[in-house]
Amino acid sequence: MAETVKVLIPEEEVNERIETLGKKISEDYAGKQVHLICVLKGGVFFMCELAKRISVPVSMDFMSVSSYGDGTSSSGVVKIAKDLDETLEGKDVLVVEDIIDSGRTLFYLLEILKKRGPKSMRLCTLLDKPERRVRDVKVDYVGFNIPDEFVVGYGLDYAQKYRNLPYIGVVEGAE
Ligand code: IMP
Ligand code: MG
Repeated sequence: MAETVKVLIPEEEVNERIETLGKKISEDYAGKQVHLICVLKGGVFFMCELAKRISVPVSMDFMSVSSYGDGTSSSGVVKIAKDLDETLEGKDVLVVEDIIDSGRTLFYLLEILKKRGPKSMRLCTLLDKPERRVRDVKVDYVGFNIPDEFVVGYGLDYAQKYRNLPYIGVVEGAE
């Protein structure tokens, strides 16, 4: 069977939800500057779209972590492949993720970032698979709760493919 992608959340729905999240974040951070941290590569599409819809001042930084594990599950041993350029000292930090699955990657990442002295730190994810949670991470802003299926699009990949899809889909017929 050829590999195809079935739409799970259409583009318009994703965009509407990001609009709502942007408004909520703008209200919650009224009078402040929000420092967005993107976890590469998956978080980049979501963070850019979200940033455009936030009306308070925004600064952005990027980091890349790799979590040892097989193709579809993480071990929770996180290695920083690219660190942030700027300090977090005194900043109102919002970590932006594509998806939280077991929560292992983020659990370790947040522990590392908390030690860098941010004034506040919150977490925003486009997708959440609560059923799969192994580590307890508190998520402040969630785009969509989704069932335990492997999804692609809007930054998420399957073997580095499909990140560019403007919707969230499920891969069918993969080897
Ligand atoms: P966790 O440590 O298990 O929470 O893994 C989180 C990371 O695994 C995410 O940031 C993604 O990079 C990847 N991941 C988890 N679920 C999916 C999925 O359904 N599609 C694509 N990548 C996923
Ligand atoms: Mg990720």
